[in-house]
Amino acid sequence: MRLFETHAHYDDEAFGEDRDQVLERVYHSGVQRIVNQGASLRGCRDTLKLMEQYPFLYGAIGVHPEECGDMTMEDLAWIEETCKNDKCVAIGEIGLDYYWPEPDREIQKKWFAEQLELARKEKLPVVIHSRDAAADTMEILKAHKAEEIGGVIHCFSYSKELAREYVKMGFFIGVGGVVTFKNGVKLKEVVQEIPLEHIVLETDSPYLAPVPNRGKRNDSGNLLYVAREIASIKGLSPEEVCETTWENACRLYRLPIADDKEGILEAYDS
Ligand code: NI
Repeated sequence: MRLFETHAHYDDEAFGEDRDQVLERVYHSGVQRIVNQGASLRGCRDTLKLMEQYPFLYGAIGVHPEECGDMTMEDLAWIEETCKNDKCVAIGEIGLDYYWPEPDREIQKKWFAEQLELARKEKLPVVIHSRDAAADTMEILKAHKAEEIGGVIHCFSYSKELAREYVKMGFFIGVGGVVTFKNGVKLKEVVQEIPLEHIVLETDSPYLAPVPNRGKRNDSGNLLYVAREIASIKGLSPEEVCETTWENACRLYRLPIADDKEGILEAYDS
């Protein structure tokens, strides 16, 4: 069984002590591909280092709405250069977050739009972070014809009606630990509603660990709990959920569906 981790933050200081051991353990447990998400510029630079170090780890490069307060056009130019790296598979995570009052909403919208256009230019999909900003996110995505860009709505937290609309636009829905929570009813409904072919698995590590590890530091070894919950909601086997979401993630990030296991094990041996 192989699992594709579509969204994690292994550059986070929560992994400062044992990053190497964690990544090796999750790889050998079956998580054969990981896309690490850049959130700040510093996070992007750390993501680049991880991409070099681990053959099975890819990266998304971009600036998160909470980090875009003092972003500049020079930073955007740096992202444009950096995302040409062969192992950079998306622009992300980008979007809108209205949970906190800062940065100003107009500033968030500006950098969201700029990074969307960059993704279009570079022919890369986008990883969208959207919290408490459903209407504005959809409005900006529609205005920029995001259905031609493609991507994933990560850690989806909105209604099943909105999920259906994103599926119609060809987007994937990122499902993580919240689907295992007792109070995750809305997300369970979303999973029930949309076809498995539009779901990808994510942990958002080190955050949002699923039951039975809720509250602890998260890592991609917990993806199987997410897969099992989706399987039970949809009446499928966990194997089917793992394999189909693997293929979905490959379509999302435009990677070959054939796994690169041999290449990776060779790299480990050498
Ligand atoms: Ni994230």
